Amino acid sequence: MGLLNLLAVAVASTCWHAFLTYASSVQMGARSGIQECKHQFAWDRWNCPENTLQLSTHSATKETSFVHAISAAGVMYTLTKNCSMGDFDNCGCDDSRIGQTGGRGWIWGGCSDNVAFGEKISKQFVDALEGGHDSRAAVNLHNNEAGRLAIKATMRRACKCHGVSGSCSIQTCWMQLADFREVGNYLKMKYEHAKKLEMDKKPARAGNSADNRGALAHTFRSIPQTELIYLEDSPDYCVKNQSLEFHGTEGRECLKSGKNLPQWERKSCRRLCYECGHRVVEKRIEVVSSCNCKFHWCCTVKCDKCTQIVTKYYCARKDGGRRPHNKAKSRHRARRH
Ligand SMILES: *[C@@H]1O[C@H](CO)[C@@H](O)[C@H](O)[C@H]1NC(C)=O
Ligand SMILES: *[C@@H]1O[C@H](CO)[C@@H](O)[C@H](O)[C@H]1NC(C)=O
Repeated sequence: MGLLNLLAVAVASTCWHAFLTYASSVQMGARSGIQECKHQFAWDRWNCPENTLQLSTHSATKETSFVHAISAAGVMYTLTKNCSMGDFDNCGCDDSRIGQTGGRGWIWGGCSDNVAFGEKISKQFVDALEGGHDSRAAVNLHNNEAGRLAIKATMRRACKCHGVSGSCSIQTCWMQLADFREVGNYLKMKYEHAKKLEMDKKPARAGNSADNRGALAHTFRSIPQTELIYLEDSPDYCVKNQSLEFHGTEGRECLKSGKNLPQWERKSCRRLCYECGHRVVEKRIEVVSSCNCKFHWCCTVKCDKCTQIVTKYYCARKDGGRRPHNKAKSRHRARRH
């Protein structure tokens, strides 16, 4: 989402002052959404590349559905946090239920995160980017909403004990946002079960967009707001795709050993390399890190630099290597601080 894009749309729909107040948080939120996307897809063939958000304006695959949802969620999340932290003059904790009994032994208190505020502002900014009335715009808006609902669905109650010497005879509780990682996990699960929208294949009558919208609305009603939807099957992410500016899986790192690797990571070499017709090459990499750190009174920490050889694995073209039997000898140096 380019800042200029945001500028153009948001200025039209909100007043200038409000725009300036929220714009940087919106940007930051969208970015945190993309960062989370990269984390969630680190060991998938499609790994949430940089240009993802721009491309998502002219295709509607399972992957772009995730991008829309996680960006909208990121924006709502950041704005809501900002609100609770008192970053904005016109908004604070949700105190609508304070003092009311919530359940057995507890009453509402503390600072409940004000998701209604985050939701409202993020709608103004993020949904405004969908100008069209076509099915793709409708799908994008649906997925934005699914992202915002994920924020609400992952919220949880936090409580604090009161009573004589911590007897906890009465508690005050408030609703707080989950870690954003949890929102990412939740939406990744929704991505795995995303539903393809089967549109009426009859050619749409030109000019009669009201009819189209009617048919669309009907199709949408059968799908819960919480679910991600898409229109087009994904291309083959094994291979380079010029029009998507996608590089394919050649050169990607994969993970091999390690008993405590989760199943998904442990199968990454198969998924990214072998099943894409690549082979796996091994590289020994020298990693420099801090070690033997000692605390000196007061107050510094002094460390040694230790070098460690780690083995990493990468996908390579089958016909690409000159000496396929000599792969273990290849050396590559990298320094990390
Ligand atoms: C909103 O929160 C982010 C961190 O979550 C912070 O970097 C940013 O400065 C905040 N925005 C405002 C307007 O304070
Ligand atoms: C590249 O992506 C486009 C858009 O998704 C798709 O139509 C095309 O078939 C893909 N090309 C290859 C070589 O996979």
